[in-house]
Amino acid sequence: MLVTRTLEELREALASLESSKGKDGGLVPTMGALHEGHGALMRVARLSKAWVAATIFVNPLQFNRPDDLARYPRREEEDLRLLQEHGVDLVFAPSPEVVFPQDWVAPDLDLNGLDLPWEGAFRPGHFKGVATVVSRLLDLIPCANLYMGLKDYQQCLVVERLLHLRKAMLGLPGPAMVQVPTVRDADGLALSSRNLLLTPDQLARAKGIARTWSWMKAHGQGLEPVALIERALERLTAEGLRNEYLALVRDGSLDPWRRGDGAPRALYAGWLDEVRLIDNESLPFP
Ligand code: PAJ
Repeated sequence: MLVTRTLEELREALASLESSKGKDGGLVPTMGALHEGHGALMRVARLSKAWVAATIFVNPLQFNRPDDLARYPRREEEDLRLLQEHGVDLVFAPSPEVVFPQDWVAPDLDLNGLDLPWEGAFRPGHFKGVATVVSRLLDLIPCANLYMGLKDYQQCLVVERLLHLRKAMLGLPGPAMVQVPTVRDADGLALSSRNLLLTPDQLARAKGIARTWSWMKAHGQGLEPVALIERALERLTAEGLRNEYLALVRDGSLDPWRRGDGAPRALYAGWLDEVRLIDNESLPFP
């Protein structure tokens, strides 16, 4: 596994991979503190015969709170071990100065409003930061497939929009996005780097999100969307979470869900004391 930190090292490593394994590689962008949710992305990427590159970069542009950026877990040694175990060919783990040098100019990305509601409303600027860094990483690591987790549903929609924009701007086919389902623990808690910040008591309360998904699947059929959301929010509060939002959207979009739209997707964000958690789940009512 080639580990690179500078643009020169990256270029050299990519040239050698392309000459041995061809041009059509896969890219898995991450912010490190890796777990088996990230592992699933590597496994799916590995299914293709092409090379697989992973990035570890805690992107300052997508943090709207300096304390959140400072507290974000970092543990590169373990990360590199996990990437090696998953057969990743190339790791790019740069510093912010390498990704965003002084004379670099941010592209003007029109995200078609997908960056504004839900996560975007509670984390202003977050998705512009995500789209900017993913665009930059795609400039640096041209690839055929981009692997993203459905755990971050709205992020998937924003990155899909980015890929569409890049196709239009560059006139190139660009990578296809491969979406990987959310990996959960035995109790249904979505794996997340932020779970590392939770105490055992907080972890137990975090599982209230999964219990609420089960309740919504069992009781959602007979309730109007507004009543379902209200009742579910009450349950989440009783589980010890401080809710930010719970939304029901038409799957594959951010449009409000209405009966007859097929199975809705529920989107949630909330706080356990100082730790913010997000999750989403499809609700195939019986
Ligand atoms: P990060 O939170 O490290 O996640 C990296 C990728 O792993 C994302 O595509 C995310 O959706 C996916 N992922 C995280 N937890 C998962 C789980 N439990 N199951 C399946 N996939 C999971 O998302 C980011 O980093 C950043 O915003 C990034 C895209 C790297 C841009 O900085």
